[in-house]
Amino acid sequence: MRTELLIGGEWRQGSDDGRIDVLDPATDEQVAEVADGTPKDAQAACDAAEAAQRAWARVAPRERSEILRNCWKILLDHADELSSLIVREHGKPMTDAKGEIAYSAEFFRWNAEETVRIRGEFAVAPSGANRMIVHHPPVGVVAMITPWNFPAAMITRKLAPALGAGNGVVIKPPRETPLTALRIVDLLQEAGVPKGLVNVVPTSKSGEWLDAVVDHRAVRMLSFTGSTEVGRMLLRRAADRVLKTVMELGGNAPFIVFDDADVDAAVEGAMVAKMRHSAETCTAANRFYVEAGVLDEFSEKFTAAMGNVKVGNGFDAGVTCGPLINKKAVADVDGLVQGAVKSGASVLLGGAPQPGAGCFYVPTVLRDVQPDAEIAREEIFGPVAPIISFTDHDDVIRQANDTELGLTGYVYTRDLAKGLRVSEQIQAGMIGLNRGAVSDPAAPFGGMKQSGLGREGSTEGIYEFCETQYISTNW
Ligand code: SIN
Repeated sequence: MRTELLIGGEWRQGSDDGRIDVLDPATDEQVAEVADGTPKDAQAACDAAEAAQRAWARVAPRERSEILRNCWKILLDHADELSSLIVREHGKPMTDAKGEIAYSAEFFRWNAEETVRIRGEFAVAPSGANRMIVHHPPVGVVAMITPWNFPAAMITRKLAPALGAGNGVVIKPPRETPLTALRIVDLLQEAGVPKGLVNVVPTSKSGEWLDAVVDHRAVRMLSFTGSTEVGRMLLRRAADRVLKTVMELGGNAPFIVFDDADVDAAVEGAMVAKMRHSAETCTAANRFYVEAGVLDEFSEKFTAAMGNVKVGNGFDAGVTCGPLINKKAVADVDGLVQGAVKSGASVLLGGAPQPGAGCFYVPTVLRDVQPDAEIAREEIFGPVAPIISFTDHDDVIRQANDTELGLTGYVYTRDLAKGLRVSEQIQAGMIGLNRGAVSDPAAPFGGMKQSGLGREGSTEGIYEFCETQYISTNW
């Protein structure tokens, strides 16, 4: 497969011939190296995107839509190959990788349908003196910075609506997982995406890449998925050129189980909310608030389910949790666990890195975690579940909201009215009510507070990649 930069539809080495090593986190071995883009390469990518975008914006929506549909199909046709690349460079289990490819492809099908439905408005001005026409042209060139936890889906969630709306694109894939990104864009060109419209420049020099792209006159938008810390920095930098931004940032999801919940269903949902994609999702349940009446039952059943998780190489049959992305991630997760234990938590399961090669952490359940422990305040990004008991309903909502983050929340109760009331009170962009998964290309993905700005997916997602122009006229 191609491992160079894709600029203007051509594959080329970085201008200083640098390379980035790609490691398999399950074995610590190098699996590939890819070209390391320089600021000069990033600028060339923006030039190429600008040139290709002018023609693309004039292509009829129906034709753009059909190309997006071809993209959906080609990704599904190559699902086995793409899933293997994901497992190789990210480490997640094969079943999750296959699920990710289906999810990634669906962003193209969904946005193929949205591309022909970008609506405008027409009105007679209240004074009666003129007409007002509102329409939505593309933004122009969009820079995308994507994370390693979903090497395919976090690209397609941005790329499909950006292309549908008529934009050109420059992507910085994560240095940990660039292979999936490079193969996907190769396939998209085969599916009919015009050369030069999508450019991919992996780099080890993120700061310089960002400066080159943000300062390029054609770039009008920055779309990022990643941590809140990096998102804040990008927002500051984007402010220099008043770029439009969409920011999908960190989460610290509360998972609340009330006494009247179906505990078996709550455990099943907890496993999904905690463990999907090796527990490295920003939607992951981060704090388990369990009401006193079901605390023992939930803790016991959940610990048993976590104990059944098979940790290992994502290629091995039956594995349900792969490695973390690197050694630093293992050390960070372990630091949070040891901190919680020091402040009084008891370990029901796990509690340590797995010895030997690879970046594995043993699935861990902690009980009696202090509500103000660092583990309840930081995004864990690993297979660790801290349980905090509660008795007071108002207080659990206060605790759930006692964070600057507000991406996702989960609520389990058999009382639908209570469930909806509590869901509305949780300050988060997405709520799973008696469900452990919220992600869907047809739903608005995004957070409140410092979990982000804007939404991806749904009918809203494509408008993020559009401008609004109003024409005042008489006739
Ligand atoms: C993320 O973790 O950034 C995305 C999770 C999802 O789309 O489900």
